[in-house]
Amino acid sequence: MPRIIFISADGSEQAEFNVPPGLTVLEIAHKYGLDIEGACGGAMACSTCHVLVDRRYFDKIPKPLEEEDDMLDLTFGVAKTSRLGCQIVVTDALDGLTLRLPPETKNRQER
Ligand code: FES
Repeated sequence: MPRIIFISADGSEQAEFNVPPGLTVLEIAHKYGLDIEGACGGAMACSTCHVLVDRRYFDKIPKPLEEEDDMLDLTFGVAKTSRLGCQIVVTDALDGLTLRLPPETKNRQER
């Protein structure tokens, strides 16, 4: 099972999990109680699942759909390696995938 590593926004905490392929990063975060909200449940309508992908793994992940890029354009703290966690499906090829949580997220559905 591929290993996935989450690093807290300030870099002070790290958590590693071996997960079955086929789950999304958002599903993994929820399974292990990590602080990734995922307010829209993976519908690419919120960006509260924003994660920063380690450069070594960024190009191994299939390219984002236009809708994902559009949503990231509206997100705080975006970097070149930003992705939506609900759109990253973990595969064996992503063994060692390392993700950092962003400093903050904003739910655009909130008022
Ligand atoms: S959970 Fe809302 S965009 Fe990913």
